[in-house]
Amino acid sequence: MKALLLSGGSGTRLRPITHTSAKQLVPVANKPVLFYGLEAIAESGVTEVGIIVGDTAEEIRQAVGDGSAFGLHVTYLPQEAPLGLAHAVLTAREFLGDDDFVMYLGDNFIVGGITALVDAFRAERPDARILLTKVPNPTAFGVAELDPAGRVIGLEEKPARPKSELALVGVYLFTPAVHEAVRAIQPSARGELEITDAIQWLIDTGRDVRSTTISGYWKDTGNVTDMLEVNRSVLETLERRIDGTVDDDSEIIGRVRIEPGAKVTGSRIVGPVVVGADTVITDSYVGPFTSIAGDCRIEDSEIEYSIMLRDSSMSGVRRVEASLIGRNVEVTPAPRKPAAHRFVLGDHSKVQIAS
Ligand code: TTP
Repeated sequence: MKALLLSGGSGTRLRPITHTSAKQLVPVANKPVLFYGLEAIAESGVTEVGIIVGDTAEEIRQAVGDGSAFGLHVTYLPQEAPLGLAHAVLTAREFLGDDDFVMYLGDNFIVGGITALVDAFRAERPDARILLTKVPNPTAFGVAELDPAGRVIGLEEKPARPKSELALVGVYLFTPAVHEAVRAIQPSARGELEITDAIQWLIDTGRDVRSTTISGYWKDTGNVTDMLEVNRSVLETLERRIDGTVDDDSEIIGRVRIEPGAKVTGSRIVGPVVVGADTVITDSYVGPFTSIAGDCRIEDSEIEYSIMLRDSSMSGVRRVEASLIGRNVEVTPAPRKPAAHRFVLGDHSKVQIAS
């Protein structure tokens, strides 16, 4: 069995972060989202992984290398354009050969991994097995309709009147039967080859499509709100570990990880929080569910429930919350007079002002 990990796409919902980097490499508790997927694949016993890459191919290659750090053997599969999840399967045709495979969306986060799902598939080997979870707002997802035996009888993409509350999660298991399906379907109204259409084609041609419903945690980290929420859930499991230096005037409360070379002076950090290597925090407050990457500087500021990427700084700013701050960003106060906000915002930035 092989794995197909999707790490192309356009990432419009995470702009402006995705103007300069891959959304799958945005860190959750200071580790790229994609790495959690690679670890879940390795844990399930699959070692041959094809990674679909697009415009950010070089960055993904640099981060993952040949996969040996994860116990995996990685092959990179360039996709000409983000033409849909089923198009990614078409792109991987040669790599996949006649093997069964698990397809994993690189920006998805599944607590508890995929081992049970992969084991169930190996034991029963239906033509396809999809992963579902109950959601409060099915109209925003691909939704599945099941018969009483749990067999999938229909799929609909973002239905106005959903037939169930069961949304598709970003992990799919396929036998080579899917290759015929992805060749048979036409692009959707948004111009993409949809994997839901390919699975529907399997159902319509009498194939056996089964599902597993997970009650555990699942999130698509494609937008900021979900990203912060996944960061929160991973930080919940953090263990306290102080490798950097903390002076006597600082207070470190609860589960806080301070990585080597980081320096905390005159500050209060209330966990769960992770502070990356060589980051300097001075006279500041860092509150729960915050991930500060390496080489950052936080001075005379307050921040909580946020993610800050590498090489960024914040000075004299209070208070920041529910924020995703990119790389090499500077946040400082404006001069006192006149009382005004001053911005240099990249394309597609989003700013909410407390005023
Ligand atoms: P999506 O989040 O559905 O699509 P996207 O990356 O284009 O993002 P947005 O909707 O914000 O514009 O993609 C799910 C995952 O699959 C993600 O990791 C990107 C990847 N992907 C590909 O590799 N190739 C593709 O053609 C598409 C559509 C997605």
